[in-house]
Amino acid sequence: MGKQRVLSGVQPTGNLHLGNYLGAIRNWVEVQREYDNFFCVVDLHAITVPHDPKTLANDTYTIAALYLACGIDLEYSTIFVQSHVTAHSELAWLLNCITPLNWLERMIQFKEKAIKQGENVSVGLLDYPVLMAADILLYDADKVPVGEDQKQHLELTRDIAIRINDKYASKGKTVLKLPDPLIRQEGARVMSLTDGTRKMSKSDPSEMSRINLLDSPDAIEKKIKRCKTDTIKGLTFDDPERPECNNLLGLYAILSGKTKSEVALECQDMGWGQFKPLLAEVAINSLKPIQDKYKEIMDNRDYLDSVLREGRHKAEAVANQTLTRVKNALGYLPPL
Ligand code: TYM
Repeated sequence: MGKQRVLSGVQPTGNLHLGNYLGAIRNWVEVQREYDNFFCVVDLHAITVPHDPKTLANDTYTIAALYLACGIDLEYSTIFVQSHVTAHSELAWLLNCITPLNWLERMIQFKEKAIKQGENVSVGLLDYPVLMAADILLYDADKVPVGEDQKQHLELTRDIAIRINDKYASKGKTVLKLPDPLIRQEGARVMSLTDGTRKMSKSDPSEMSRINLLDSPDAIEKKIKRCKTDTIKGLTFDDPERPECNNLLGLYAILSGKTKSEVALECQDMGWGQFKPLLAEVAINSLKPIQDKYKEIMDNRDYLDSVLREGRHKAEAVANQTLTRVKNALGYLPPL
């Protein structure tokens, strides 16, 4: 039997932060040898909120280069740009027509983002989870490694696939494969540095709330120095009254490669003044190799273009087959 398939993606909206890395990309890298992987830069998703046409193309390169810099290996994985494979938009339309509106209105991320945008909220923002379902279903993905915040979208993807199969599959067959989320407990929900009850997010207006993968050592030090803490001496995990403490110790554990119990022991008598420089040091040291590699790749545009060109061909070969399967099941006249 061949390897199972993985698909995942990140939006090219500005910089990637530690949440994106620890919740998603790091896990892609860790499991990539076991699977046949497709990692896409989901640029069609990036315009569901107002975007700047001047930066979109470069942001797309940035994310692709970061995938490589973080350790995505082309021997096991394919990297491509979502808008280069037109089957994504086409399948999204077909899925739109079988997805009940109230399934989308229930999506937590839509509700949260829509509140921020008021009257200007686009149909695209509401429809975004259907496009995400198309991204996944086109590749017959078995597993989708993501952070905790994408769980509801994965459930919707399964519901859409079930609906298509129920309505259009011939007896004993399926049209679309049902994917499973792959959510690792550690790092699945990295919280903001300025509020330990909210997740670290690209859309937070405060730069101080997140550590970006491309932040300079000075910026990382400053953000950690100023991040929100409390006045209690002795640092502990899992105290509901101390969400910031839990988040920062969790980050320290993942970045230093120590277990939770080792960190609990190490930090039980520490104050923040002693802990913060330790966290800053492990964050700077873990990001340094990624940043160096990133610069090298971004300086070699021809190489990056060739990666994305090859990625597009491999992705198209798989996606177009699935699209044809779905169109046949829906009864379309094949192109003549
Ligand atoms: P995006 O671009 O917002 O985030 C990319 C990945 O990072 C994870 N993530 C986090 N993990 C832990 N803590 C956080 N604070 C944190 N913030 C973000 C996300 O869970 C995600 O895995 N809809 C997706 C992109 C997408 C996609 C797909 C993903 C489009 N099509 C198909 C998987 C499969 C999104 O907006 O992710």
